[in-house]
Amino acid sequence: MPIRYVFVYLLYLCVMREGKVEYMAKENISVLMDEKRVFTPSKESVENTNVKQWMEKHNIKTLDELYKKGGDWQWFWDEISKDLVEWYRPYKKVVEWNPPWVKWFVGAEYNIVHDALDKHVKTWRKNKVAFIYEGEPGEVKKYTYNDLYIEVNKMANALKKLGVKKGDRVGIYLPMVPELPIAMLACAKIGAVHSVVFSGFSALAFRDRVNDCEAKVVFTCDSFYRRGKKVQLKKQADEAVENAPSVKHVIVCKRTGDTVSWNEGRDIWWDDAIKDMPKECETEHLDANDPLFFLYTSGTTGKPKGIIHAHGGYAVGTSYTLKWVFDMKEEDIWWCAADIGWITGHSYIVYAPLILGATSVLYEGAPDWPQPDRWWDIIERYGVTLLYTSPTSIRSFMRQGEEWPDKHDLSTLRLLGSVGEPINPEAWMWYYKVIGKEHCQIMDTWWQTETGHFVISPLPLTPLKPGSATRPLPGLSAEVFNEEGKPIQNAGGNLVLTHPWPGMLRGIYKNPDRYQETYWSKFDNTYLAGDVTRKDSDGFFWIQGRADDVLNVSGHRIGNSEVESALVSHPLVAEAAVIGKPHEIKGESIASFVVLRKGTTPSEELKKQLREHVGKEMGKIARPDEIWFVNDVPKTRSGKIMRRVIRAKAMGNDVGDTSTLANPEAVDGLSKGQ
Ligand code: WTA
Repeated sequence: MPIRYVFVYLLYLCVMREGKVEYMAKENISVLMDEKRVFTPSKESVENTNVKQWMEKHNIKTLDELYKKGGDWQWFWDEISKDLVEWYRPYKKVVEWNPPWVKWFVGAEYNIVHDALDKHVKTWRKNKVAFIYEGEPGEVKKYTYNDLYIEVNKMANALKKLGVKKGDRVGIYLPMVPELPIAMLACAKIGAVHSVVFSGFSALAFRDRVNDCEAKVVFTCDSFYRRGKKVQLKKQADEAVENAPSVKHVIVCKRTGDTVSWNEGRDIWWDDAIKDMPKECETEHLDANDPLFFLYTSGTTGKPKGIIHAHGGYAVGTSYTLKWVFDMKEEDIWWCAADIGWITGHSYIVYAPLILGATSVLYEGAPDWPQPDRWWDIIERYGVTLLYTSPTSIRSFMRQGEEWPDKHDLSTLRLLGSVGEPINPEAWMWYYKVIGKEHCQIMDTWWQTETGHFVISPLPLTPLKPGSATRPLPGLSAEVFNEEGKPIQNAGGNLVLTHPWPGMLRGIYKNPDRYQETYWSKFDNTYLAGDVTRKDSDGFFWIQGRADDVLNVSGHRIGNSEVESALVSHPLVAEAAVIGKPHEIKGESIASFVVLRKGTTPSEELKKQLREHVGKEMGKIARPDEIWFVNDVPKTRSGKIMRRVIRAKAMGNDVGDTSTLANPEAVDGLSKGQ
């Protein structure tokens, strides 16, 4: 028998023995999801964990009992909040639920900055390091809780002096520098609402967000380092603010010392703003349900939506999840290697770790700069114990090879985490073996900008199945519904959350109808997450990808329609359709089909121009990987672009019934694209 048949047969046996082959929601992203392989945590990794201690205190013997206890969710959150936060005035009621509107810890007077900073400086933690900051060129700066407290107070006083008041919005357009969390906390301290925009977004994207929330003041910096180059952020901020009439002042932090253009009267250097400012600033006593921040995220249609989060519930939800899932202890060195510009950074670089009094690493730059072992070097140098990152990063490290992590001592690591996209079991195993040396549990945490904190995630004592985020955490409740709203098992369906949770979004800024429509209209009083998910016979959840027209590129949400409008805003483009294609590293890549205006000659040069145009409109992460010029794109009779059909065609799959299309011939035309 030829040798290759032996191999094929062996492979077949492996697949049959190990479990099922599942397919992800978006066609052809085939991932081996192995339901039978269970990783049970070792005794040592479970003992003395925060969750175990809590179980002992409440006389809970088993994990099942714990989840059951969490089912009594109002009791649970009441109990949990006692361990984590300090109210100025206690609440009268845990929750008030008038679907889809919620209030948590009703009647409490609160400010998240009290828990993040003020309470620590009254204890020994005053001199504990809160952030170890490392710039891309290598400089290191440590901030104790007291250092942060003083910097925040000075900036809070400066904001007040500039006329910022409770409820006013402040836009923040800063890279990963310590001034970013300082600016956020300074806003929160005085009751202003921050709206951070990822520094990789374009000037136009920043302008749209600033205009939507009508920010009075914005923060930016001169420029910053990324892969050895400087990104001129002030220039982009200037471009944005030019057409943002609400902005009265721009506070500019000096990162590189580059010369920048200056608008006298409007622009203020950070250092000048805080000069002579008092080191104390009273923290504003707010209602626990007052807004803390807006964070814009992509949806299926229209412009990004400003997700609103409030002080009290968010503080409880984020700190609980970090304390239990990552077992955060006093002596840990925590590294959430995300960008603060996304929800992961808001919740798990800024607020939750500070509430828990943790020491965190804050790294400015690229993971592979100057060499592919920068991260492993950072872990070794600071003795990082808990690492939280994304499947995209793990897959790029896999490609670079084991020799890079193998150069470093990673033995301090005790738990690893993943977020942002489904983690394929191959990446999971690599992370587990090469980085965790088979002794670190992997916390695959499913959550969203809207949920504020982890929802479906293991605890250190949960048995794991690579590729599954396991079960909803105690106090949280998720289900998989079919189209009729009935719970289903062992089949793909709609991921829903069946009761409110503390970190829940409080709405979409200025758009209550969109809030109702997007999340609460498909099923009664039930939150629709927008992810296709399967629940297996053991109750484990397997998140398969977005159900809607939202791309997930390297763990970042980008609306198909946003990229399409960016393309169409180019003067030579008449129409555009954008789809996601499976990508080995990024999870998904962006492919676009473009109809040019009459008389325009397609060329490679024009493709380049269009990519740059999208980069300018939205930011580099949204630039299409592929551009195809076509004569037409398939549409329904009402003019809606049929992305599902385009995707099937592009992937070589069956396109199904095309008789309802207004222009069925456009489907075949796609393959003639150039
Ligand atoms: C996806 C990021 C699978 C999902 C925190 C969700 C995940 C969207 C996971 C939210 C995970 C996040 N496994 N998919 N562990 N975590 N997602 O708002 O599609 O940027 O709806 O929040 O990311 O993205 P967002």
